[in-house]
Amino acid sequence: MSAKHQTEKPVEALNEAEAEAELARLAETILHHDRLYYQDAQPEVSDEDYDKLRWRNDAIEARFPALVRADSPNRRVGVEAAAGFAKVTHRVPMLSLSNVFTDEDVADFLARVRRFLGLEEDDAVDIIAEAKIDGLSMSLLYRDGRLVTGATRGDGTVGEDVTANVRTIRGLPLTLKGNAPAVIEVRGEVFMRRDDFFALNRRLEEAEKKTFKNPRNAAAGSLRQKDPAITADRPLRFLAYAWGETSEPLGATQWEVRERMQSWGFETDEPARLCHNLDEVLAFYREVQGARAELPHDIDGIVYKVNRLDWQERLGAVSRAPRWATAHKFPAEQAETLLHQITIQVGRTGALTPVANLEPITVGGVVVSRATLHNEDEIARKDIREGDHVIIQRAGDVIPQVVSVVKEKRPADSQPFVFPTHCPCSLETPVRREPGEAVTRCTGELACPYQQVQRLIHFVGREAFDIEGLGSRHIEEFRQEGLVTEPADIFHLKDRKDALETREGWGAQSVANLLRAIEERRRIGLDRFIYALGIRQVGQATARLLARTYGELGAWHQAMTQAEKERRKAPDAKKPAEVGEAYAELCNVEGIGMSVADDIAAFFGEAHNVKVIGDLEAALEAVEPLESVADSSPVAGKTVVFTGTLERMTRSEAKARAEALGAKVAGSVSKKTDYVVVGADAGSKARKAQELGVTTLSEEAWLALVKTPAG
Ligand code: IVH
Repeated sequence: MSAKHQTEKPVEALNEAEAEAELARLAETILHHDRLYYQDAQPEVSDEDYDKLRWRNDAIEARFPALVRADSPNRRVGVEAAAGFAKVTHRVPMLSLSNVFTDEDVADFLARVRRFLGLEEDDAVDIIAEAKIDGLSMSLLYRDGRLVTGATRGDGTVGEDVTANVRTIRGLPLTLKGNAPAVIEVRGEVFMRRDDFFALNRRLEEAEKKTFKNPRNAAAGSLRQKDPAITADRPLRFLAYAWGETSEPLGATQWEVRERMQSWGFETDEPARLCHNLDEVLAFYREVQGARAELPHDIDGIVYKVNRLDWQERLGAVSRAPRWATAHKFPAEQAETLLHQITIQVGRTGALTPVANLEPITVGGVVVSRATLHNEDEIARKDIREGDHVIIQRAGDVIPQVVSVVKEKRPADSQPFVFPTHCPCSLETPVRREPGEAVTRCTGELACPYQQVQRLIHFVGREAFDIEGLGSRHIEEFRQEGLVTEPADIFHLKDRKDALETREGWGAQSVANLLRAIEERRRIGLDRFIYALGIRQVGQATARLLARTYGELGAWHQAMTQAEKERRKAPDAKKPAEVGEAYAELCNVEGIGMSVADDIAAFFGEAHNVKVIGDLEAALEAVEPLESVADSSPVAGKTVVFTGTLERMTRSEAKARAEALGAKVAGSVSKKTDYVVVGADAGSKARKAQELGVTTLSEEAWLALVKTPAG
């Protein structure tokens, strides 16, 4: 959008139709520039050019008063306040890492890598080991050597544009030295050193401002400032350790790229070492663990990466973590404190979780005042009582846990904890614990106000509908005030504007911001939609697989309704196929066994849930099929079964490749199978394919079909 158009045709020369079109264009253009100016603090046009746009708009409105638009720049109260940062879509997703904790886990990781690549036990696999910095991952895009965008990880696919703030980070190159590719996205960690963190907190304290709980929060808080001047004043640093988009291959190994990044002017992650076997890897881990306290910044483990980049590519990723890397975490830090009281929290599926309310204490740099006690058995097993001194620990980002009780310090009058028989909600519904299950649940189901609130909080959460500015506190209040009871009510809040605007601490601006954030979510991906429903055992990965398998909401809904019908008719069935076709198809989705399938189907057996979906469909503009890079591949949407021994790739590699190309990989052959890829010594599956008339392919033919250079 440019400000140049305005000179095209004088206002006096416009006819009515032209004026109408011109007003529409101007409304959009001016809004665009307002947002850049107010929200992003990054105007694209000069004040003079902006004013010209406004004058032209006013002149046309004056000549054609009947054409003044509802969203005319003159009718708007102003642009929405600086609500958030602009979104940036990562062309190459920003993955996270799987974790390992023991030496055996590390050995397993290496063994898995070998197995996947089809290597022998004694084939060398070089591993680069580097400190796992406890900060925030950041993507820096450079074009022709200049920093153009700095973006946070966000949900891995869409992050926030924090370019203006990133530019202020000390030591971060704004232009690259040496021979960097034309397009290069460098990734790494933004963090704060421990001494800088304490100094910052002292400064904040003196100014009677809120301090940060740990260096990580301080880094995050400093980076997300609307005013880059504040970020500039915060002691942030950046270490590079990975990359995303590139216009040319960067090298043959991770180590080589590390050195190239240094040559462009980056500090890279330290300490780091190129290891040649398991022993070297573990030795490095122990060395760094011993020196942990002497490092200037917090680290929470060691990251291992397969050094060869061609192997990294073959290994690919599963769910949201690469198979070629893993994080070896350091053991959690522990501390002793007093447990004042045990309270009960109710989750969205009605599970009662006991929580320990503690005398605040610092563990691993974080002040802890609450810890989860998991369930009734856990309390009994550890004999945890109110008034006990307990050992607590934080493991990474996990909520702290009570490890054990210091029995010697137990007061003489201490009593065992009695688990409640009724939900702490206002309905005081009895609770139930199914035989063989660890969780106690409130039987109030959909009526329990606690569950309702938790379901709504899940629904608007970051991984679900991600409605900005609608946090758990608002949800609780809105529910109490009767503004929102069910998910679809959120999309009707625009009809309750008056009620919202009269709420304490709210005004026209904050309401407008919230309603805008809600409007932005009237189109939503099917995977997020499914995840947002909060079906038991359906996490993000399963939601995505369901979205991919069923394609669109209607088809999924119909299939699940059918699966539930089948399930009701065959309550004693032991195998998916005995239940029915729709149910068996559901079980054919990777990671879905009968237990998960039962929970999904049962969700659709509940009239209330069906109504929730129906109401949402009515309120939303669109539930969109998953965008797939693989849509254009020749096997997109096809169901493939691999059988027998493959020679040019391992079975898991073949499966991963096929899935990356949009195919569904099934375990058994049915009428719905499109291809059966037959390796050496294939048995019954190949026969069944022939019986059913399903196309069979040799490994060679399959590779030719997907044109993947294997092995
Ligand atoms: S590599 C695809 N290397 O840890 C692999 N990550 O728990 C991308 N992190 O999101 C990450 N130090 O924010 C990598 N040396 C390092 C790291 C590192 C810290 C963070 C990063 C990542 C998180 C995963």
